[in-house]
Amino acid sequence: TMRNELNKLVGTVQDPRTQKAFDVEMQSFFYLFTRYLVEKSRNEALNWDLIKSPAADQIVPYDKLPTQVNIKHLDKLAVLKVNGGLGTSMGMTGAKSALEVKDEMTFLDLTVRQIEHLNTTHKVDVPLILMTSFNTHEDTLRIIKKYANQQLRITTFNQSRYPRILKEGLLPAPSSAADDKDKWYPPGHGDLYNALLHSGVLDQLIAEGKEYLFVSNSDNLGAVVDQAILEHMIESEAEFLMEVTDKTKADVKGGTLIDYDGQIRLLEIAQVPSDHVEDFKSIRKFKIFNTNNLWVNLKALKRVMESNEGMDLEIIINPKAMGDGQAVIQLETAAGAAIKHFKGHGVNVPRSRFLPVKSCSDLLLIKSDIYSLEHGNLVLNPIRVFDTIPVIKLSDHFKKIAQFQKRFKKIPHIAELDHLTVSGDVYFGRNITLRGTVIVVANEGQRIDIPDGCILENRLLSGNLNM
Ligand code: UTP
Repeated sequence: TMRNELNKLVGTVQDPRTQKAFDVEMQSFFYLFTRYLVEKSRNEALNWDLIKSPAADQIVPYDKLPTQVNIKHLDKLAVLKVNGGLGTSMGMTGAKSALEVKDEMTFLDLTVRQIEHLNTTHKVDVPLILMTSFNTHEDTLRIIKKYANQQLRITTFNQSRYPRILKEGLLPAPSSAADDKDKWYPPGHGDLYNALLHSGVLDQLIAEGKEYLFVSNSDNLGAVVDQAILEHMIESEAEFLMEVTDKTKADVKGGTLIDYDGQIRLLEIAQVPSDHVEDFKSIRKFKIFNTNNLWVNLKALKRVMESNEGMDLEIIINPKAMGDGQAVIQLETAAGAAIKHFKGHGVNVPRSRFLPVKSCSDLLLIKSDIYSLEHGNLVLNPIRVFDTIPVIKLSDHFKKIAQFQKRFKKIPHIAELDHLTVSGDVYFGRNITLRGTVIVVANEGQRIDIPDGCILENRLLSGNLNM
């Protein structure tokens, strides 16, 4: 059984202290696995009829937030970035946050700039905390090493490493604690709360007098500390805030806040019964989605972690394949799902607070002259009318980061671009300008090279082009 196999895994660790920590980790895993089995046997799907759009007072509009802020409150704040994911959809094998974004700075470097700027401007001491995983720990340490002597305090802690589960037979994939990376997984950002507790970081923060934690994704450069939200959290005495933003047709997959039988909850697409997926995606019924910018009261968090009920979060089953092709499942959780354990609500924030990099098209935008940098913050180019950003569609040839880097010798100037579609085997030279609507389509077996210095304005290029 799973229990026996986990005991065997624990037995493969020699050093007693490492064994203890590993044992604790396997117990947390086993607890999650047991919950999975119970839920599977009950076959308890969400009751769609109990799901309602959240009530008006469960989502506070951004323009209703306090305009007067107390700078001293910043001293009670810590900032945490969840940084355990790889960006597998972009073909990454290291931390996505270690990608260079602008001026040779990575996501992590820019986050450091943002918080340094906050601290020096207001003469406060907001620490930066990074949650890493076994996949991202080394990359992260390499980047933050250079800030060791700086004013800003940076703490890192590792999230859990759980064994992948063989789909056939539901047993652990690894056969020893030291087995291949490919046999393990980080169990989603919902692991944050467990990892904060087990690493001792939660107690450390509380002991330092920190009361609030602002959590966001490490690839979201729009998630800067917003004092109006902090002030609102204090005034409203909320224990948990979720920043949500208006959904567009492009974000139909994002989790949303719902009223479930009178209780506020996060609903992820993975939890939606298949016959309601279209309903879930509709912009009319669910107008907002979760940005994963979360504000948590630390004492309340400690209370929930120590309660009998604990921090059980809805399990998301993530099917994957190992390197050798064997099918596995990963049991994961989402940080925002914690809202149901707290006195919490949503705040509807401007889209600019959600600028994640989920694909190479997103990366192209962030790296381009659409944004400039100010103390690590992305500032939209003033040339843009109505604060719009171009729509960029790159085909699968650009899906993996290595391909993207090979195909764009330099990021084109796109400050005046509205729409770009690139499909097929296309290469961009240096110093290229794209304006208006540009469509480049290389047909199967053909290759298009856009030469250095080229300006394309409202152009459609297709076929086998020799320019
Ligand atoms: P997502 O899981 O939404 O995806 O992570 P991703 O990392 O952007 O890309 P894919 O799905 O692998 O392509 C959102 C945030 O949560 C962190 C990631 O580092 C990212 O900042 N995360 C994700 C963790 O910290 N731990 C995890 O186990 C998973």
